[in-house]
Amino acid sequence: MNKKLIAGNWKMNASLSTNDALVKAMLDGLQGAVPAVDMALCAPAPYLAQLQTLLQGSPIAWGSQDVSAHEQGAYTGEVSAGMLKDFGCRYAIVGHSERRQYHGETDAVVAAKAQRALAAGITPIVCVGETLAEREAGETEAVVKRQLAAVIHVVAHCTSEIVVAYEPVWAIGTGKTATPEMAQAVHAVLRAQLAAATQHPERVRVLYGGSMNAANAASLLAQPDIDGGLIGGASLKAADFLQIVAAAR
Ligand code: PGA
Repeated sequence: MNKKLIAGNWKMNASLSTNDALVKAMLDGLQGAVPAVDMALCAPAPYLAQLQTLLQGSPIAWGSQDVSAHEQGAYTGEVSAGMLKDFGCRYAIVGHSERRQYHGETDAVVAAKAQRALAAGITPIVCVGETLAEREAGETEAVVKRQLAAVIHVVAHCTSEIVVAYEPVWAIGTGKTATPEMAQAVHAVLRAQLAAATQHPERVRVLYGGSMNAANAASLLAQPDIDGGLIGGASLKAADFLQIVAAAR
């Protein structure tokens, strides 16, 4: 079985000084122990060099929150997968609902981003999830399957190399968590879809994200198809993040 993955998504919350203090507190909290859990922190692009310096040789990997769908060229403001690789990124979040919602990212764009990351040797963390209106309309399963299918279609035989994160949009940053049973039901759907798409579905970790915190992590992570967490708010506090890591062991 795969190790669980606990990945922090700092979103647009960072500064040189706060990052330094946060990362040092996390590393101190680990006290040199290497947990039986994979860990990562996904930071805004300008701070990836800082994370590389702080985390190199530690048990915590680092990654970006987005990646360009293009390889290189005249795309002002974009950051390519190759650039992320230069700064040692192991992961790139793609298709976060905030990017889909505020930056108009379509399923096709998200799939292209996942493909670019894989081509550079970076693991894409592909986010899928329904809005409240979609859940209330009974469309949850159809929405997440459509979003994942777009990625599977493009990355094809590399599907076993991706990480998937189920993040119900209504649970992100709202304090409303999906119950473990609600999350597990969707994870089982995604797992079945992966099983039909790749010979090695067991390699794909399916994370839950959306108000996961120190108090609710253990019950979510105990579900059979929840292989870790994508943690927003709680990844900005070292103690909370480490408690989630401990709950994942
Ligand atoms: P949250 O964010 O934990 O603050 O709800 C999760 C995410 O958006 O990845």
